[in-house]
Amino acid sequence: MRDLRLSITDRCNFRCTYCMPQEGMQWLPRAELLSFEEMERIVGVLVDRYGFESVRLTGGEPTVRAHLPVLIRRLAALGVELSMTTNGATLGLVAADLAEAGLGRVNVSLDSLRADRFAAITGRDSLHRVLDGIDAALAAGLAPVKVNCVLVRGVNDDEILDFAELGRRSGAEVRFIEWMPLDGDGAWAGDRVVPAAEVLKVLAGRYELEAVGGGAIDGPAPAERYRYADGGGHVGVIASVTRPFCGTCDRIRLTAEGQLRNCLFSVRETDLRGILRSGGSDDDLATAIEAEVGRKWAGHSIGQVHFIRPARSMSQIGG
Ligand code: GTP
Ligand code: 5AD
Ligand code: SF4
Repeated sequence: MRDLRLSITDRCNFRCTYCMPQEGMQWLPRAELLSFEEMERIVGVLVDRYGFESVRLTGGEPTVRAHLPVLIRRLAALGVELSMTTNGATLGLVAADLAEAGLGRVNVSLDSLRADRFAAITGRDSLHRVLDGIDAALAAGLAPVKVNCVLVRGVNDDEILDFAELGRRSGAEVRFIEWMPLDGDGAWAGDRVVPAAEVLKVLAGRYELEAVGGGAIDGPAPAERYRYADGGGHVGVIASVTRPFCGTCDRIRLTAEGQLRNCLFSVRETDLRGILRSGGSDDDLATAIEAEVGRKWAGHSIGQVHFIRPARSMSQIGG
C-alpha cells in the first residue's frame, strides 16, 4: 500500500443521484470528524513507517471543509504528493490558494455537458461554474487536470464525443468511468454500466488513438490511458466493473470520521479515531493499520452472487 484516499468531510454542496440517497443525508456533527492534527498524525505514520507517497483528498466535497489550505500546507510538509477529487464548483474561487498551499493536481467530477441534464444529475444549476473551475485549475498549474465522467446507460452515454472534445479543447484529461454499485439509492444495474470497450469503440470511430503503455493500466492507478495521435492530449477509461484492476491496487481509505477501509467495497472498517482519542501511540495505530491491510481481499466481486454492497454510499467513502 502506497496511496491514501483521505475523506475530509462527508458534506457536499451537490446532491448527485448516484452518490447520495435522494432524501439527503444527516451530516456528521463536527466533533465526529477527524481534526487536522489527527489526520496529520495518521498520515505521518503511513509516511514514516510504510513509505506512503501520495494522499488524495476526497469528501463529500473536500472544498467545503473550512481552512482547507491550512490542512494542505500541513500534509504537504510531510513530503507526500497531494491531489484532490472535487466536483469543481468552487475551484474558480479557491484553485490558486490551494495550489499555493501545496496541492499538486485535481480531478474534477463532471457527468454531463448539457446544463439541464447537469442540473438533473447534481441537483444544482452549476455547469458553468464547474467549467470555469476546470479552467481555473489549469491556470493555477494544478496539472494534469483530469475530468471524471461516470457513464450511465440512458443518462449520459450519448455525450462521449462531446466530453472527448472538451478534453481536446481544454487540455484536461477526460476519463470515462464504469458505474459501480455504490449509489445511494440502489439504482445500479449491470445492464446500465457502459463498458470501457464500448467507449473506446466510439472514440476510435472519430479519432486515432495510441495506447499508452500498450493499453494496460499504467502502474497501480485505475485508468487505462490513450493518446490522440494528432496531438490532442490524452483520454482514459476506468473499467472497474468489466476489467477490474484489484491486482495492482495500492490504496487504502480513511473516512471523514477516521475509519480505515482496505477497499472501496469493504464491509467492515478499523476505528483509528478511537485509538487516537483514547491516547493510543503510533505503535498502536501501526498495529491497527497492518491488521486492516492484512485483511485486504484479492479483489471485489461486483456482478457475482456473493457480492455484498457496502452499507456506506459513495459520498461517505470518497470514491
Ligand atoms: P489518478 O491518480 O489521477 O488516476 O486518480 P484516481 O483515478 O485514482 O482517483 P479519482 O478520485 O479520480 O477516481 C476515479 C475513479 O476511479 C472513481 O470512480 C473512483 O471510485 C475509482 N477508483 C479510484 N480508486 C479505486 C480503487 O481502488 N478501486 C476501484 N474499484 N475504483 C477506484
Ligand atoms: N461508480 C463509479 N464512480 C463513481 N463516482 C461517484 N460515484 C461513482 C460510482 N457509483 C466517481 C465520481 C468521482 C470519483 C471519486 O468517483 O465521479 O469523480
Ligand atoms: Fe482496490 Fe478494492 Fe478498488 Fe479492487 S475494488 S481496486 S481491491 S479498492
